[in-house]
Amino acid sequence: MARIEAEVGKPQGGLMKWIDDRFPLTKTMEHHVTKYYASKNFNWWYVFGVLAFVVLAIQLLTGIFLTMNYKPAAAQAFASVEYIMRDVEWGWLIRYMHSTGASFFFIVVYLHMFRAMLYGSYKKPRELIWLIGMLIFFVLMAEGFAGYLLPWGQMSYWGAQVIISLFGAIPVVGDALVEIIRGDYSISDITLNRFFALHVILLPLALIGLVFVHIVALHEVGSNNPDGVDVKKNKDENGVPLDAIPFHPYYTIGHDLPAIVGFLIIFCAIVFFAPEMGGYFLEKPNFEQANPLKTPEHIAPVWYYTPYYAMLRAATFPLFGLTAKFWGLVVMAGAIVLPAALPWLDRSPVKSIRYKGMASKVMLALFVVSFIILGYLGLVPPSPVATAAAQIFTVIYFAYFVLMPWYTRVEKTKPVPERVTVQ
Ligand code: HEM
Repeated sequence: MARIEAEVGKPQGGLMKWIDDRFPLTKTMEHHVTKYYASKNFNWWYVFGVLAFVVLAIQLLTGIFLTMNYKPAAAQAFASVEYIMRDVEWGWLIRYMHSTGASFFFIVVYLHMFRAMLYGSYKKPRELIWLIGMLIFFVLMAEGFAGYLLPWGQMSYWGAQVIISLFGAIPVVGDALVEIIRGDYSISDITLNRFFALHVILLPLALIGLVFVHIVALHEVGSNNPDGVDVKKNKDENGVPLDAIPFHPYYTIGHDLPAIVGFLIIFCAIVFFAPEMGGYFLEKPNFEQANPLKTPEHIAPVWYYTPYYAMLRAATFPLFGLTAKFWGLVVMAGAIVLPAALPWLDRSPVKSIRYKGMASKVMLALFVVSFIILGYLGLVPPSPVATAAAQIFTVIYFAYFVLMPWYTRVEKTKPVPERVTVQ
């Protein structure tokens, strides 16, 4: 271990020195990689940040090649995707990697966010990392939504129709807003063009910029860990935290690399053997070209939006003179935005779920169950039973957040150890 560290920290000459005299390369590498000290008790929950990076790279790379052959025009879009699938060399692979990547982006980011909830990584001093993460999440949702219109299939068209028309429920400005989003009086070629511009330029740029500041903020305060113990409290005579190890080579080689390999095996298995994933990753009606005169029997968004879609549909009655549709929009937007308040809702004296009380554990479990059940309810056609269930689980979802200031304060927590525990 000492030998590897000595190699890594060896003074560089030649080209490295030439660059370092002109650009802080070694300094940056040391600050962010070779001398970025991360707690030694990371577990597998800590691989999803790096996996989000991997998926981002896959999406950007495959996206560039798709754009080379895709035609952002209502008359040609659907056929150009078929052309990519059938005639473009390796086009099928590029497209399946991109469509599978979209679902994997959400799987990875949901797990990454859940890890932060498990270990209280959003708490002081990491509030900004969390808030920037939330911005990434909003942009990612917009990116997925804009991308989904591009193949110009039935679900692309009708999914966008349902979601965009929702904004019409906002009093006073609603109708104007809908027109601005669509750029037309209905979803048309113009809508497709602006969604294309958003999907391939604006939103990816925003994502890359936000991911950059996410990491800058993380490396300013340092990573949390499964114990939620501050490793900077116990340092050796050189100022190196006693319970931490350099990110490179220990975490890069011993932790992230095996995770990336495992991830790619699962990713390839789906791309090559089940790219449609039974209609969950690529919905069946989307293999039919968009037809404004034919509404599909059942409109459901892709699985990663369905928990929020179920909450939207759970609002079934008007209130205070405002329509049910408006309240549905409020509930859905609230469900998406509310996690941003977690750093201020959580009043617990401890960070990690390991040392929190029973109430926090039960509420987190209920939150996960409600999110999964809502995800299922958003996929199935509406029925009185499904709507009633969605209403119950929407209340539970919100209760996790709204009651948090209370249950995190009154519950009995366990004593947090001075040093991290390695299991
Ligand atoms: C493109 C999307 C994202 C990328 C590439 C990304 C990348 C990363 C990386 C590499 C880390 C350090 C490694 C790790 O702790 O896993 C990290 C940490 C973190 N991320 Fe993200 N992230 C993304 C999205 C998000 C989102 C959506 C949130 C939450 C809303 C979030 C919240 C956090 C938090 C709180 C930490 C610190 C965790 C800790 O120290 O325990 N990230 N992120």
